[in-house]
Amino acid sequence: MPHLPRKGGDSAPDLTGWGTHEWIVGMIGNPKQKRYYGENNDRMPAFAKNPGDSSDNILRAQNIELIAKWLRGDWYEPAQASAKSEGQSTK
Ligand code: HEM
Repeated sequence: MPHLPRKGGDSAPDLTGWGTHEWIVGMIGNPKQKRYYGENNDRMPAFAKNPGDSSDNILRAQNIELIAKWLRGDWYEPAQASAKSEGQSTK
């Protein structure tokens, strides 16, 4: 994992770990964190402002996990052949 230099202040998001599951979960949870867009983010809501207590959050941790997996194309898809070989009726 490359370590990106952070010269020039905090005007750009820190892309270390970009696209990893953990990075995406954090981004959805709160894009205003310093490692993401900081105060430059003025539109994307923090879907999990309180990581420890989801009762007040827009999304539960479990749902954010699922979104992150979906964004990464990381979900289970049964082989096409198996549906056919199980002889599902099309009548
Ligand atoms: C890798 C994941 C994501 C990245 C890098 C990302 C990045 C961004 C950025 C850069 C903005 C513009 C913020 C601004 O100009 O202030 C934005 C806006 C927004 N994002 Fe995300 N986003 C991500 C995932 C998501 C997901 C999963 C959702 C919904 C569940 C979401 C919902 C929104 C919404 C509602 C806005 C505001 C749109 C508007 O009002 O114009 N984002 N996002």
